[in-house]
Amino acid sequence: MVKRFYLPIRIHFGPQATEVIPSLLAGFGKRVFIITDPGVRSAGPVDKVASILSNAGLETEIFDEVRANPHQDTVYKALDALKGAGCSCVVGIGGGSALDVGKVVAALATNPGSLSEYQWDGRQFEHDPLPYVAVPTTAGTGSEVTRAAVIIDRNMKKGIAQDKLFPWAAVVDPDLMRSVPPFVTATTGMDVLSHAVEAYVGLGASPVTDGWAFEAIRLVGKYLLRAYANGDDMTAREGMALASTLAGAAMDQGGLGVVHAMAGPLSSIYDMPHGLANAILLPIAMRYNLIAAPERYADVALALGIPVTGMSAREAGLCAVRAVEDLVAQMGISVNWQTYGYRPEDAERFADEAMKMFMIKNNPRKMSRQDCVVLFRALFEGREDLF
Ligand SMILES: [Fe+2]
Repeated sequence: MVKRFYLPIRIHFGPQATEVIPSLLAGFGKRVFIITDPGVRSAGPVDKVASILSNAGLETEIFDEVRANPHQDTVYKALDALKGAGCSCVVGIGGGSALDVGKVVAALATNPGSLSEYQWDGRQFEHDPLPYVAVPTTAGTGSEVTRAAVIIDRNMKKGIAQDKLFPWAAVVDPDLMRSVPPFVTATTGMDVLSHAVEAYVGLGASPVTDGWAFEAIRLVGKYLLRAYANGDDMTAREGMALASTLAGAAMDQGGLGVVHAMAGPLSSIYDMPHGLANAILLPIAMRYNLIAAPERYADVALALGIPVTGMSAREAGLCAVRAVEDLVAQMGISVNWQTYGYRPEDAERFADEAMKMFMIKNNPRKMSRQDCVVLFRALFEGREDLF
């Protein structure tokens, strides 16, 4: 199979990496548009970056209205604010929602037409976007190193994946992640693991993505519980930040699978945080996929530090599934479906939406709509006997 590889991003990683942001924007004008969410703004990272920019003689305009699972109207509001403020470059600070809004705002500022025209397999961005620096404040989405952005349009998560959406630069500073609360650390960390596992077992995996994904899984196995247990454990925070960036690069180049396809409707219809949706879906999807790629799941067990010598690939793969289930349980992640207003017919309509997601084609096991319904039922109703 022919493998494509293209990752044109300057990546600056490590404590105090934010100090380099002004130099990354040199020559792009004096006015910088910062896109973030209210929680991140009040937690400190935005003030820190704004002050670094200000000390370098740059002016900032801050848009802090991004919410989790962002909708199109937020994009247009931010775009209007950017144009009104006359900014010529963009910095996104936050989790995946803020970083994704930043990407599309930077691109729509220089390209004609509406966002809907570009979503899914639509129109291609013709012009380079405004220079965009992505600064993650969670170890989760890996959006800072991907060409993808997901924005909800009329209750449906719609992705755009185009080369023009690669950020100009990614600045990953684990110091910005210190104040992330334990539950968010847990769920965003499970997003990292989902990216790495899906990229590793997916049909688009290559020797390059294998290396990144395997190392990301190893780092999650080593550091996620530590970061969850003590957010001030900066060795663990740095390990998770690195895992997030590696897994993001692996998923961009290798693709995702049914976890992310099925997470789509949970977020767009139930407004469930993306990381939480992945956390509850990953173990069930691993169990479903195991027969398609047992050797790959045996490698996942190895990466997680499980002694697999002497086991068959299937036995080792099952150990990986159990280890991930255990990880989820140790961090207290569970879902009460009643709070989301679950009704039995939801499994059907969720399956319809999940089957439209392009990443389902990258899954190692070919999923039918009926399989998808069964998996949603297993999830919602605890019916593990269904598959
Ligand atoms: Fe994700």
